[in-house]
Amino acid sequence: MNRASLLKRAACGMAVAFGLGLLSLAGCGGGSTEVHDTALSSGDWTWSLPQNFPAPAVPAYNPMSQAKVTLGRFLFYDKRLSGNGLQSCGSCHQQDKAFTDGLARAVGSTGETHSRNSMGLVNVAYHSSLTWVNPLLTELEQQAMVPLFGITPIEMGLTNANVPVVLERLRSDADYPARFAAAFPGESDPFSITNIVRAIASFQRTLISANSRYDQWTRGEATLTAQELRGFNLFNSEKAECFHCHTGFNFNDQVRHAGSLNVKLPFHNTGLYNIDGLGGFPADDQGLITFTATASDMGKYRAPSLRNVALTAPYTHDGSVATLEEMLDIYAAGGRHIAAGQPNAGDGRLNPYKSDLIPNMNLGTQDKADLIAFLKTLTDEDFLTNPAHADPFASVSAASAGTPTHAGGRRGAR
Ligand code: HEC
Ligand code: HEC
Repeated sequence: MNRASLLKRAACGMAVAFGLGLLSLAGCGGGSTEVHDTALSSGDWTWSLPQNFPAPAVPAYNPMSQAKVTLGRFLFYDKRLSGNGLQSCGSCHQQDKAFTDGLARAVGSTGETHSRNSMGLVNVAYHSSLTWVNPLLTELEQQAMVPLFGITPIEMGLTNANVPVVLERLRSDADYPARFAAAFPGESDPFSITNIVRAIASFQRTLISANSRYDQWTRGEATLTAQELRGFNLFNSEKAECFHCHTGFNFNDQVRHAGSLNVKLPFHNTGLYNIDGLGGFPADDQGLITFTATASDMGKYRAPSLRNVALTAPYTHDGSVATLEEMLDIYAAGGRHIAAGQPNAGDGRLNPYKSDLIPNMNLGTQDKADLIAFLKTLTDEDFLTNPAHADPFASVSAASAGTPTHAGGRRGAR
């Protein structure tokens, strides 16, 4: 067996080992490629997934349907959904940036700055908890209420007072009555926040990235360069340790899918700060400790998926890491040392709550370049340009899921 096929076998073994027991991988070891997953279709909805992707978990109260997904796409990109009409979900979650916004920290519809970086919504259906850290937020339906109604900071600025106004905006649209009726058949007045949130969640569950060059390689449809293969090997080695936290088909360790048992919610401190020498993180964002009040949870966050990571800069929960190069320098050193005199100064390498999996890794210049080359193979052009994920208001030719015909349909730049 040559080197490339040995590596490929390693990739296949990794995916199977990380909990895809029900499924067998196409192109791995010549076994059956049948999917024994009964959750792959329901009603008029069928997931179109490669063999190594399990069906997403869908709550029983909000089954998938094509009409809901279509409606959800319009609502996700509709600025009329914010109190002042200036912002949609898509303002902060932009398709060409893998559903991030390019900012260090998000800015809401009224100009307030968020303490955190906008997250990519890539394969968001598979996360067992949502946002950078919140063990209590486990459903997309629940999460959407935060940007809609949140006041610390204000994002889309909905309030009990302006909800009737917003619903009336949608009700008086030329197309929404038919779209809501199709998505929620039999309801006399389907215009409600509950239904809006359900439709948006259904749309978000379709944001599946599974066709990067890395994926094609695992399926035997593409090759990786020698450098990308070195990066892949290093990523999965005990030298760089990356695979412990960025693991499995979605490159993170909080994954659940239809039929998942024993869903775990690990969070990790990667040594980004150590302000007081006792492990302190900046006062406005300290991670898991906010929920547990347990000292050792200081600075712990969810490991993000690394799919399409080349497009989601700046990085980490507060957007304080500008580039992948800087990210790899931090990992190589086993944490971030912020020199005296700079904001949040302190030696994160010595953070007492830092994960054991972030030691001084001894990564050389070549190692770091190889890892970045591998991370770039996770970019999925199909996902980034899929018309079914695109802003239907942005272009009259955005076609495939239907062109908006209502007045003011063209909403300009996000
Ligand atoms: C002002 C910018 C902004 C707007 C508008 C916005 N988001 Fe977000 N989104 C963020 C930020 C910032 C985070 C990270 C929040 C955190 O960690 O507390 C986030 C996180 C998320 C997550 C969690 C992703 C994950 O991997 O866990 C989802 C899902 C999400 N947003 C969906 C939405 C939806 C749906 C809407 C519209 C109803 C929306 N967002 C509107 C900025 C925004
Ligand atoms: C102990 C678990 C752990 C290990 C090991 C680990 N990471 Fe991470 N990674 C995380 C967590 C947690 C975050 C988010 C940190 C934060 O926001 O404060 C993160 C963030 C990142 C980001 C930024 C992603 C984004 O969207 O902002 C990149 C890139 C990354 N890791 C790559 C790697 C690479 C490459 C390795 C191996 C050298 C590695 N990680 C090892 C847990 C880990």
